[in-house]
Amino acid sequence: MSKSPNIMLPALGVTGIVLGLAYGLSTRTYKAQEAEVAEVTAQAALIRAEASETKVSMLEARLVEVQAEAEEAIAVAAASVQSLTGPAPVANGALGLGRAALPEEIAAWDVDILPDGRGLPEGRGDVLTGEEVFADYCASCHGDFAEGVDNWPVLAGGFDTLADVDPVKTVGSYWPYLSTVWDYVHRSMPFGGAQTLTDDEVYAIVAYILYSNDLVDEEFELSHENFTEVAMYNTDGFVIDDRAAVEYAAWSAEPCMENCKQAVEITRRASMVNVTPVDEFMHPVMRGEMVHDAAAKAPVEEPEPVAEGGVDPALIAAGEKVFKKCAACHEVGDGAKNKSGPQLNAIMGRAAGTVEKFRYSKAMAGSGLTWDEETMASFLENPKGFLKGTKMSFRGLAKEEDRAAVIAYLKSVSP
Ligand code: HEC
Ligand code: HEC
Repeated sequence: MSKSPNIMLPALGVTGIVLGLAYGLSTRTYKAQEAEVAEVTAQAALIRAEASETKVSMLEARLVEVQAEAEEAIAVAAASVQSLTGPAPVANGALGLGRAALPEEIAAWDVDILPDGRGLPEGRGDVLTGEEVFADYCASCHGDFAEGVDNWPVLAGGFDTLADVDPVKTVGSYWPYLSTVWDYVHRSMPFGGAQTLTDDEVYAIVAYILYSNDLVDEEFELSHENFTEVAMYNTDGFVIDDRAAVEYAAWSAEPCMENCKQAVEITRRASMVNVTPVDEFMHPVMRGEMVHDAAAKAPVEEPEPVAEGGVDPALIAAGEKVFKKCAACHEVGDGAKNKSGPQLNAIMGRAAGTVEKFRYSKAMAGSGLTWDEETMASFLENPKGFLKGTKMSFRGLAKEEDRAAVIAYLKSVSP
């Protein structure tokens, strides 16, 4: 920092002189101007030379510094090589590894805050300040009102949902201790910028999260002094884990080892019930295509496919396999129901977007399409490209043979 002005001053000098020259040019005679230009040029050159000289001497000084630093580094390295090969210092304990942590290092790790307030630093912050800090650092993911954006966690609300199948667990509805909020935010948020908040900012944010959960009013200020007075909704919602006493006895009886089944046979796989969407990069086992024993691996005499009504059964079979990619969202066959996509019975030949009770996108409902081989193939190749605005989140079937096969299959379920 201190070095730059030395370089800048001569440079400014040159600029000043050149500006002066421009002014002079407009008023003097040409000869006089020429002489002046020469003089000024010479002056400028001189100044530049001086500047480079300054630079050179600075560089020289830096070189000396760097040399000294290098020597020091070499000495340190030599010492550490020695300590690696030499006997471990006594202080390093039984294993001869590492060293005792410094008090500063322990302090940097020791940031946990306990429910009774132990560990809290002194500080304070109010709801309104918290609202601002939250808008700056947290709202992009957690929403302005801590309601959560997209799939980012919701931090407020969800009261009375804990007994539901799909409870909304938030700081308000679920967390039993305020200390966890302070600790969590201070330790790990904002996501990607952990531990950049000041203690007062954390107090303010926690106050704001309390406010978002209707636990305090707008004027509230949270501090290390009133911290333990805040009551959380779900403080009493947790029970002591008594499984060791209650359940362990039930499970620790002698297991029955009689009348056991002789052989274990795998009858179904997760891939068959479409727990995991099937895709072409998947291992064959996951696609349910694994051949399990040597006998089955032997080439089987495939009967010549018999064309039935012009459709090749092998193609339909292949299509049924491809349909596993669709089955996470679509059902076909008896009693097929709408899932996240509409059921696809008798889809071929039908107007698009007309399955009852299914909520289509506007794009699909208003497409005016009829599903024939051509429209279906184009849609399946690139759903969003073919029908802009469709809500079918599927990247498409890249292979023509897959499209042909699945269309044959859809036809087979379209009587
Ligand atoms: C870039 C997105 C992002 C930002 C910005 C962000 N968070 Fe988070 N936050 C997350 C994610 C992701 C999780 C879940 C982390 C996990 O479960 O491991 C989370 C979890 C939380 C949780 C725990 C929620 C729960 O119920 O488990 C709290 C509290 C929280 N964040 C507060 C904050 C605060 C306060 C800020 C601002 C200082 C902030 N976050 C900024 C993404 C973000
Ligand atoms: C991630 C879920 C998902 C997957 C996977 C998926 N779809 Fe869809 N599909 C949808 C949704 C949602 C719609 C409704 C689209 C709309 O309304 O814009 C839809 C609509 C359709 C339609 C139009 C139905 C009608 O009534 O007009 C057809 C045809 C279709 N999908 C076929 C397929 C096929 C074939 C596959 C597999 C190759 C597949 N989809 C994979 C979700 C999916």
